[in-house]
Amino acid sequence: MKKSAFPEGFLWGGATAANQLEGAFDEGGKGLSIQDVMPNGLMTPPTEAPTSDNLKLKGIDHYHRYQEDIALLADMGFKVYRFSIAWSRIFPNGDNEEPNEEGLAFYDRILDELEKYGIEPLVTLSHYETPLNLARSYGGWSNRKLIDFYVKYATTVFNRYKGRVKYWLTFNEVNSILHQPFMGGAIEKTREEITEQELYQAIHHIMVASARATAVARTISQDFSIGCMVISVPRYPLRPRPEDAFKALRETQLDALFGDIHVNGEYPNTLLRVFKEHEIELDISEQDLVDLRNTVDFVSFSYYMSVAETTDPSAERGGGNIMGGVKNPEVEVSDWGWAIDPVGLRYALNTMYDRWHKPLFIVENGLGAVDQLVDEGTTKTVHDDYRINYMNDHLVQVEEALKDGIPIMGYTSWGCIDLISASTAEMKKRYGFIYVDLDNNGEGTLDRYRKDSFYWYKEVIATNGESLKRG
Ligand code: BG6
Repeated sequence: MKKSAFPEGFLWGGATAANQLEGAFDEGGKGLSIQDVMPNGLMTPPTEAPTSDNLKLKGIDHYHRYQEDIALLADMGFKVYRFSIAWSRIFPNGDNEEPNEEGLAFYDRILDELEKYGIEPLVTLSHYETPLNLARSYGGWSNRKLIDFYVKYATTVFNRYKGRVKYWLTFNEVNSILHQPFMGGAIEKTREEITEQELYQAIHHIMVASARATAVARTISQDFSIGCMVISVPRYPLRPRPEDAFKALRETQLDALFGDIHVNGEYPNTLLRVFKEHEIELDISEQDLVDLRNTVDFVSFSYYMSVAETTDPSAERGGGNIMGGVKNPEVEVSDWGWAIDPVGLRYALNTMYDRWHKPLFIVENGLGAVDQLVDEGTTKTVHDDYRINYMNDHLVQVEEALKDGIPIMGYTSWGCIDLISASTAEMKKRYGFIYVDLDNNGEGTLDRYRKDSFYWYKEVIATNGESLKRG
């Protein structure tokens, strides 16, 4: 009897971001992006100019090796490939009058390859790679002018790639700005430095930009399907105390406000109290409120981990994806201290569907781990059973959520080919099915090798989930 609950047409695949794999940071007319001055990810403040220790400048050289890379994804049987367009390849300074043709042509070539193998593209417009000039000359998303720059960029790529791209995501992990103003909002301040007023004004500008881009998309192609993209981190009360439960709820509401606006087209009531308490008065025009009504077709999200919440200030904090949070003693953690919680993915899918009633798309999930490349004589490989176990257990929970009746469009695992990590800007933290020979010092042949997980995922896709190991 058929065990798999994955529907026909489920979009299996993987995800990447331009700044983490393309390299060629100054080729093809590309301008600098904020990532080009973040050699240590979130670990130290940005530098004045690019420095040679920034692995992202070279990436995994996908800019020159995209054909080989996409052929490998096709070999795994990918149905969908999520990638981002580097905004600074299209508008090198963000405020240019005309787009850069060489940049546009590069993504044409990517789409040519995907079409060759029948792989559906899923394109992120802005994945932590705002043009640096918009950060340094305009103050990033604190400045209302960024709305127009972004909409112009979005309009340009919508027009260029219509008929070739159906699925678009407006901003990667749009709620990250609450925790990381530079990476999420191109605002060169730490969370401690930025005022709540400035932060929420920047959030407002991003929300309006996303909604206006969505409105433009509707006029360009009826075929477009537009999604927002949020970090999903389930927050559990550390203790069964009402105060902890409420803290978990309130933090969840703050994370969810981005999805609320994208889905409902208006600000949630819970925010009004936050605004009042912090004496925040936002500059919101009548037109902004009308534009926010351009809501999304689906909600996409990243899921890596859950956290605990408590009002106890002495509770130990754990590591984690951008958000961080209180350490949950009930779950194991990865080498980087991120909680491993497969059931949390089912929990996230349920809570988001209950809240938004929109189709959901898991566009990031995976395990960052240290891999050992072993020589097998004719080839080299990685025996990454830890990654296989992680993904198997998460996919089994996705299947449970499907049985819960939740419409799930697809699953793109993060960093399907090894790439530079976002939070720590290192190569050692690998997520891929494909090993890339490059180390933290930027040394290596850049050769690609299939890991054990490559063959495992290929089988999962070929059997539409039938081959998963259920407990
Ligand atoms: C998400 C980002 O936050 O997590 C990715 O969208 C990132 O860009 C991924 O790479 C994993 O984080 P890290 O820090 O391990 O690369």
